[in-house]
Amino acid sequence: MDCRQQLINDAQKMLARLDAKAPTPAPAVMRVSSSIYSDPELFDLEKRNLFQRVPLMLAASCEIGEPGSYKTMEIAGIPLLLVRGKDGQVRAFLNACTHRGSKLARDCGSATRFTCPYHAWTFGLDGDLVGVAAREAFGQVDAEVSRLVAFPTTERAGLVWAILDPAARPAFDEFLSGFDVLLQGFGFENWHFFKRQEMAGANWKLAFDAHLEFYHLPVLHRETFGPGTSNLAEYFYYGPHQRIGLITRKEHRLEQDDLPSLASKPQDEWPLNILLFGEWIIFPNVSINCFYKGGRGVIISQVLPGADVGESVTVQFFLHEHPPEGEEIAQAHELCDFLGKVVGSEDLPMSRDQQQVLATGLLPEVQIGQNEGGVQQFHRWINRFVQAPRGATLAEIVANGENAGASIDERANVPA
Ligand code: FES
Ligand SMILES: [Fe+2]
Repeated sequence: MDCRQQLINDAQKMLARLDAKAPTPAPAVMRVSSSIYSDPELFDLEKRNLFQRVPLMLAASCEIGEPGSYKTMEIAGIPLLLVRGKDGQVRAFLNACTHRGSKLARDCGSATRFTCPYHAWTFGLDGDLVGVAAREAFGQVDAEVSRLVAFPTTERAGLVWAILDPAARPAFDEFLSGFDVLLQGFGFENWHFFKRQEMAGANWKLAFDAHLEFYHLPVLHRETFGPGTSNLAEYFYYGPHQRIGLITRKEHRLEQDDLPSLASKPQDEWPLNILLFGEWIIFPNVSINCFYKGGRGVIISQVLPGADVGESVTVQFFLHEHPPEGEEIAQAHELCDFLGKVVGSEDLPMSRDQQQVLATGLLPEVQIGQNEGGVQQFHRWINRFVQAPRGATLAEIVANGENAGASIDERANVPA
C-alpha cells in the first residue's frame, strides 16, 4: 500500500464530510445484550480467545529504547517481561523464573541480566538460563526446558506487539491489515517517552467504548473539552482497526490537526502531520491521540482487563516527537494532568455507574447508534474472535470478518 496516498484518500473523504457537516452513518442502530459487560464466562472467553489470540500492542519502542531496557506488565492475568536484547531486538517473555515460577522483574528499568529473587537463578536478556545457584547441589538442569517462556513478538512503526500464546503462529501481517504501515507515518521509533499514568475503571469494553465515539464529548466532557465540542465522528476501517476523525471546523481544545487548511493547498503540499489526523484505534484495546501542547506528542491509552469482569485498568502513556524543553515541560505535565482528569474523573466514573446498572440484569439491552459505527464495529470484531473455534487461524478470522460487516445478527452473537 502507498502510505501517503492512503492517508490522502482518508483526508479527502474527511474534507467532503466537513463540507457536508455530517458523518457517514452506520446502516442501523445495534442492540446488544447488557450481559456482554457483566458475564464472567464471556469474560473468561475474551481472555482466552481474544487477549491470548491476537497480537496486542504492548509498548512503544522508546519505552524500552536501549539494550537492557525492560518493562513489566500484566495482561489478562499474565505477567509479562518486555526487554530489548543486546542485539537490539525486543522480546516478550512470561515474567516467570523457570525454577518455580517466581516473578523475575518488577516495574521497569535497565538490566544486564535478571536474577530471580527467590533462589537466584539468572537469565540473560535473550531468555537463556545463564546461572544456577549452587549448581552441583541442585543437580542436572536442562538448558532448553529452562529458557524463559517467550511469546511471538514484533516491532513495527515504533510500537511493540506480542501474541500471548507461546505456540502461536506469528501472523502479524494478517492481523495488522496494513494499519502498521500507516502508523509508520508518525516515526514513533525516533520519539521520546515522557510519562505513564494508570487509573481504574469498570469492564474493559465499557471503558474502551468511550474511546470509540465522540457522541459523548460535549456532554460528559462539557467541563473539560467544552459544551460546544463537535460530537460527529467519521470512521475509517482497516481490518479490525480503525481511525476516527472529528468533524469540526473549530480549533480543538488540544490544538489538534487543522484539516480544513488542506482545502486551500495542492495535495502534494499536504503536511504529513495533518494527514495523520484523528484517533487511531489498534484493536482490541489501544487508542492513540495527537496533541500539540508541550510540543508535538501523542497519548497512547491501553485498556487492560482487570481481575474481575467488572474491572479494568487504563494505562495512559505520553510520547513526544522531541523531548520537551523549557516551558514546554510544564505544558507537557499540564496536558498529562488534563487528560488524566478527562478519563479518570469523567469517563471511568461513568463506566463504573454503567457497570453497576448493567450488572443488575434489569436493563436487558443497550443500544449503539448509527453515529457510533466504530463502537458497533468493535463489538462485532470481539464476537468474531471470541466465537472462532480453537483451531481457527488469525488469517481466517480476519478474512471472514472483512465481509461479515453489519449483516450479522448482533444479538445472536452474545450469550443469553
Ligand atoms: S523460583 Fe527462581 S530461583 Fe527459585
Ligand atoms: Fe471520553
